[in-house]
Amino acid sequence: MKVAVLGFGTVGVGVFEMLKNAEGMEQGTVLVRPGKNDTAFKRTSIEEIVNDPEIDAVAEVMGGIEPAFSYAAAALRAGKHFVTSNKALVAAKGIELSKIAYENNVGFLFSAACGGAVPYLHNLSIARESDEIISLSGILNGTTNYMLDSMQRLGLEYEDALRDAQRLGYAEADPTADVSGMDALRKIMLACAVSYDMLPAEGLLNEGIENISSQDVKHFMSKGYTCRLMVNGGKTENGGVYAYVEPVLFPEGAPECSVLQNFNMACYEGRNSGRISLMGQGAGRYPTASAVLRDLSGIASGRMYMLRKECRAVKAENDKYFHRYYIRLPEKMSACVAAESVETENGIARIITKSMSVLEMHETVKKIREDGGEVFFAAIGE
Ligand code: HSE
Repeated sequence: MKVAVLGFGTVGVGVFEMLKNAEGMEQGTVLVRPGKNDTAFKRTSIEEIVNDPEIDAVAEVMGGIEPAFSYAAAALRAGKHFVTSNKALVAAKGIELSKIAYENNVGFLFSAACGGAVPYLHNLSIARESDEIISLSGILNGTTNYMLDSMQRLGLEYEDALRDAQRLGYAEADPTADVSGMDALRKIMLACAVSYDMLPAEGLLNEGIENISSQDVKHFMSKGYTCRLMVNGGKTENGGVYAYVEPVLFPEGAPECSVLQNFNMACYEGRNSGRISLMGQGAGRYPTASAVLRDLSGIASGRMYMLRKECRAVKAENDKYFHRYYIRLPEKMSACVAAESVETENGIARIITKSMSVLEMHETVKKIREDGGEVFFAAIGE
């Protein structure tokens, strides 16, 4: 299978290199920006790639929705298999691309868009055939995990931890998607779509780690807690799906505490299998490239789709899931939440709330922020 690569950044270079030695694979051309076509295998026009009869498959690792979507649609319509690491593309346009792929009888896989090297979507698409997937959860963003781990174990400040994650190639080109929780949210959207044929596109809730401070981290450590950015998703009792992202505090000994650096821990609970946890590097050149290559091999051996034809966009329902929360906010606003315990110092309150719904917590915090309050919150992992 001769493969063209769209994008020659961190992951693109890894994919191109790996194609050289992967069984049944062959290096094709690479799409680069004008002015960067300094080598014979580089092209600056997508037409040259999609009209090249020697190219069997296209691997897109550029990121962003446009022009990636137009390129993907053109490749699929030209009869090329298409694999991608681009979660923004698949979360926004995956259903449309899947339709085009089925119509043209070519493969469309996106394992690398969720979990880096961890074969999460791949496993979900297989597990759902023989078991009922009850719920999805885990750590699906390598950048924020690296940052939280560095702040806790190395005592780094937020900005220094982010700079390191960028330098190591874990963060997106614009790291806002990582630290805001949006990158992790897109990944749980994809996991729901693969597991339930429902892609939650509205009603989603996400809180990232942008507002965490080194004082918060010291406070959690003094109480024996470790903070991780968690995704949650699953099927609701009335046949819909829920999907949300938020920081969670885990007590010592919880498996999430041992997920260090850029690692991910992708979990699901099957009715018969019970809880399955997959761990591995969730970001970086070769870990992500390895997932792209796995998809190409999957297509070569006949496993062509992760999204089924019946997959549709739905609204997430997040009002029936409850947690106790840690919240740090200005003391004068502390009456906004029902407290189980309160500690105050220098005008700051650190509260453990009574149990409240995820929806209520996210809406309460939105209101506090609209009123000018600075807040960080995290669910208490039980
Ligand atoms: N920026 C992403 C992360 C890359 O940190 O997880 C892998 O999807």
